[in-house]
Amino acid sequence: MAELINTILINNKKVEVENIQHDITLLDWLRNYHKLTGTKEGCAEGDCGACSVIIEDNGSGSSRPINACLVRLGQVIGSSVTTIEGLGCDKNPHPLQVAFTKEHASQCGYCTPGFIISGISLLNSNKKITDDTINDAISGNLCRCTGYSPIIKAIKSVSNEKIAKNNNQTINKNKKINFGNVTYFKPSNLKELKNYLNDVKDFQFLAGGTDLNLHRPIINQKEDKIICLDSIKELNSIKHFKEKIEFGGAVTIENFLEAIRFKMPELIEILQRFGSPQIRNQGTIGGNLCTSSPIGDIAPILLVLNSNLKVFGRNGFKKINIKNFFKGYRKNILKKDEIISSLELPIANKKNKIFSWKLSKRYDQDISTISLAINIRIQNNIIKELHMAAGGVAATPKLLDKLCKQMLEKHLDDSIEFAIYNLDKFIQPISDLRGSGFYRLEAMRGLLRRLQICLSQNKKSLSIMEV
Ligand SMILES: Cc1cc2nc3c(=O)[nH]c(=O)nc-3n(C[C@H](O)[C@H](O)[C@H](O)COP(=O)(O)OP(=O)(O)OC[C@H]3O[C@@H](n4cnc5c(N)ncnc54)[C@H](O)[C@@H]3O)c2cc1C
Ligand code: FES
Ligand code: FES
Repeated sequence: MAELINTILINNKKVEVENIQHDITLLDWLRNYHKLTGTKEGCAEGDCGACSVIIEDNGSGSSRPINACLVRLGQVIGSSVTTIEGLGCDKNPHPLQVAFTKEHASQCGYCTPGFIISGISLLNSNKKITDDTINDAISGNLCRCTGYSPIIKAIKSVSNEKIAKNNNQTINKNKKINFGNVTYFKPSNLKELKNYLNDVKDFQFLAGGTDLNLHRPIINQKEDKIICLDSIKELNSIKHFKEKIEFGGAVTIENFLEAIRFKMPELIEILQRFGSPQIRNQGTIGGNLCTSSPIGDIAPILLVLNSNLKVFGRNGFKKINIKNFFKGYRKNILKKDEIISSLELPIANKKNKIFSWKLSKRYDQDISTISLAINIRIQNNIIKELHMAAGGVAATPKLLDKLCKQMLEKHLDDSIEFAIYNLDKFIQPISDLRGSGFYRLEAMRGLLRRLQICLSQNKKSLSIMEV
């Protein structure tokens, strides 16, 4: 079958992607090939939000802000992208642009396009406009000179300003895209994926790219074959059952958060502090587990809930428990041709209490220094059931099962004192740029004390912001 021309809808205009000789980010393509220089580059690592654009997948109807610096052009073929130039211009500015001027919400202006994109994405969503939703919407945008109050004021002053949606132009969705030496394969279901697994050799899986694209060579020197997982329909499904929710491996962190908002509200704070909306809209739960980082935020939660993962490969499906998934620093048990196709989030027993805390250098938009997830049942102040898992204290996310065993059937206060004084026998965290081993041990002791306060005062959680 003849290959279709690669197209992207940019600000509602169909653009053919031609003469791309090497792998390139969406940001570089917008700026260097189309002179859409309103979209800025600050950090090129997903941390500052200067490169924010709005993306709408063809046909999905949902639009979301993402960081253009962390997306390869091959990932967005067939999508609709709105840049700051698509929202308004000097002669006809968008009301939010006018509000930024009125409220003095911009000084040097470098960050302003990114803030406007984040603000408009919020105004365009179904969320209520409150201080909390505005703070969350701009948590991935950094401003070094204006200060945030005028920015928040400007967003608050404009409501109900929806942007025009993609005008239903159909955009080609190629299954195979070549940019120089790089080939992207885009299966739309697991059957097509299986065919690629049989035919393509030496490939790399790519989901959201918020981890992998940090390491990419911009100008590719070697042959590169990338199998994209985000377009596989089974990997995007969310199925609700009485005792669990089953998530496809390519469900984004943001969709994961929204699906459990009311069923497991104890987990919302840590998920809302996962990167920024731009990162959560792009990063996936499968990708988070497969980076196998000791400080990934999802693994400790799944470990204390005893989650099962479904793995798919050339030979079909197999099921494994999350406890058997991690093998060493950034290593897991998956073979080169295997993916996490889905994972189960068991709904905790009503008698149990769930806590999930993260300590990081910054409150928002930062990776954990340490984290702790807890699933506990107490009766008359005696611990009857306890599962704790920690991030940032070992080479892999660590289930503290030996410690938990020793805390069982004891009075809560005695158990916590025992854990605090003996913690160094169960974890020996290393020192790195995020914190020393000593800090991590002491901070973990602090979280155990926090658990004691929450349980004895019957608090659902104790946010670091309350402290
Ligand atoms: C600015 C910034 C902030 C961040 N903040 C946080 C944070 O607060 N907490 C946190 O935990 N992480 C954070 N991260 C890390 C990252 O965003 C997450 O780990 C994210 O979930 C990775 O998912 P992805 O889909 O983008 O993975 P990708 O980059 O697409 O893939 C990562 C790896 O996993 C493999 N892979 C992906 N999906 C699958 C699958 N289904 N099966 C098999 N292999 C697969 C890929 O081949 C690749 O090796 C942050 C990253 C950035 C850049
Ligand atoms: S340039 Fe900083 S997030 Fe993209
Ligand atoms: S206005 Fe200068 S960085 Fe925000």
